[in-house]
Amino acid sequence: MSDTLVLSSRWGKPNSAALATYRADGGYQALDRALGMEPAAVVEEVKKSNLRGRGGAGFATGLKWTFLPKDVRPRYLTVNADESEPGTFKDRYIIEHDPHLLVEGIALTCWALDIHLAYVYIRGEFAKQARILEAAIAEARAAGIIGPRLLGKKDFDLEIHVHRGAGAYICGEESALLESLEGKKGYPRLKPPFPAVVGLWGKPTIINNVETIANVPWIVTHGGEAFAALGTGKSGGTRLFGVSGHVNRPGVYEKPCHYGLKKLITEDAGGVLGGRALKAVIPGGSSAPVLAAHEIDISLEFDAVKAAGSMSGSGGVIVFDESTCMVRVLARLSKFYAEESCGQCTPCREGTHWMEGILERIEAGHASAADVDRLEQVANSIAGNTICALGDAAAMPVQSFLKKFRPEFLAHAELHRCPHGDHGWGLTQVTRDAVAGPVRYAR
Ligand SMILES: Cc1cc2nc3c(=O)[nH]c(=O)nc-3n(C[C@H](O)[C@H](O)[C@H](O)COP(=O)(O)O)c2cc1C
Repeated sequence: MSDTLVLSSRWGKPNSAALATYRADGGYQALDRALGMEPAAVVEEVKKSNLRGRGGAGFATGLKWTFLPKDVRPRYLTVNADESEPGTFKDRYIIEHDPHLLVEGIALTCWALDIHLAYVYIRGEFAKQARILEAAIAEARAAGIIGPRLLGKKDFDLEIHVHRGAGAYICGEESALLESLEGKKGYPRLKPPFPAVVGLWGKPTIINNVETIANVPWIVTHGGEAFAALGTGKSGGTRLFGVSGHVNRPGVYEKPCHYGLKKLITEDAGGVLGGRALKAVIPGGSSAPVLAAHEIDISLEFDAVKAAGSMSGSGGVIVFDESTCMVRVLARLSKFYAEESCGQCTPCREGTHWMEGILERIEAGHASAADVDRLEQVANSIAGNTICALGDAAAMPVQSFLKKFRPEFLAHAELHRCPHGDHGWGLTQVTRDAVAGPVRYAR
C-alpha cells in the first residue's frame, strides 16, 4: 500500500501556512498547468480520479460537478468547512497547516467549472483557522494568484470569501448551509432540486467538503488515474482519518482510502489505552452505526464499511474500550442531536428529545425494559421521515447501539443502576471531547 501523502505532507513544518513555503514546495504549479488545459479536461481528470466526497456521503465528486446546468450563470462554489460531526477533526488541520492547498484547490475547481465566486463556510468555533485562511486568501490575492486575473496571466476573475457560521451542526448540511449563507435561519431545503441545479441565491452551486477540494491540486499534477491508483475500486486517493477515544495515539492519519480499520487502531493509533480490550468503534463520525470489537477487521473504503453495516462517513474513528458504558455514550450522543435538531421536521424535533429523555432515564436506572423497546420505536419513527439526514444521523446510533449492545440497556433497567458503577463515563477526556464536540462558540 502506498505511503503517498496528498494532503498532509507539509503539516508541522515551519511556516507551513505561508505562501512562500507552499510555492517552494511546488504550490500553484497545478493551477499553472490547468490554465494551459481546457476546463473540461480538468473535470475529466477529477472524474477519472474516483475522488469521492469527504464530507460524509462519499458521493463521486466528478459526477456531482457534471450536474451543473450548462447554460446558467453565475454559478457558485461553496466549500463546507463546518466540520461539526462529533469525532471529526480533519478539515481544521488542512486549513490551519496548509491553507494554500485549499486555496489552490478552490482556484482549480472554479477554473474547471467556470465559477468566479467561491465561499468557504467555516464553523464559528474555528476562529483561528478562519483567520489563517483569510490571511492565505489575502496573500494569494496580493500575489495576483486570484483576483482579476488567475495567476496574473488568465483573463478569469476569481474571488473567495470566508463566511463564519455560528456553531450550529445543522449548517453543515448543504442546503441549510446555503440558507445560512443567504442570511437566513439554517433550515434544510427540500431536495430535489439539488444545489448543483438550484443553490445559492437560486443559482447552480457546487458544495464540497474542504478535504475533497484539497485533493484537486494533486489530481491535476499527477493525473486522475494516479490518484485512483492510490485507492481502490470506485474510491480513489488517500483520506484523513481522525482517531479519538481510548487509543494511545489519537490524531489525524492520512492513509489510502481502503486502509484497514483494525490496523489504524492497533498500529497507527498505538492500540487501546492501558492495554485494555476493545469494546466498540464508531468508524465514520458519530452518526455512523457502531461496530462491535469483532467487526473491525475491515477496509475503511466507503463501500466496504457500508457492506459491514456502517458508514465511513467523515472519517472520524471513535474508539471505546471494555470499561465503556454504552448507555452513557449513547445518552451523550443523543443529547447532542436533540440540541442540534433545527426543529423544522416534527419527527426529529420531538423524537430527538424523547430519545434523550428515555436514555437519561435508562442510564439513571429509572427505566424498564419497555422503555428500551420504546427508544427503538422512536428511532425507527425518525429514520427516513425528515427533510434532511440529521434525523437519520440521530436515529442510526440508537438503532445500532440497541442492535449490538441491547443486554447492556436491559441490565440498566433490571438493576436500576449503571452496571459500570458510579464513575460511569468509562470515557477519557479525548473521547468526551470527540463525542461532545469542542467548546461551543458564542458570538
Ligand atoms: C446534519 C448534517 C451535517 C453535516 N455536516 C457536514 C460538515 O460539517 N461538513 C461537511 O463537509 N459535510 C457535512 N454534511 C454533508 C453535506 O450535506 C454535504 O453532503 C457535503 O458537504 C458535500 O461535500 P462532499 O461531496 O465533498 O462530501 C452534513 C450533512 C448533514 C445531514
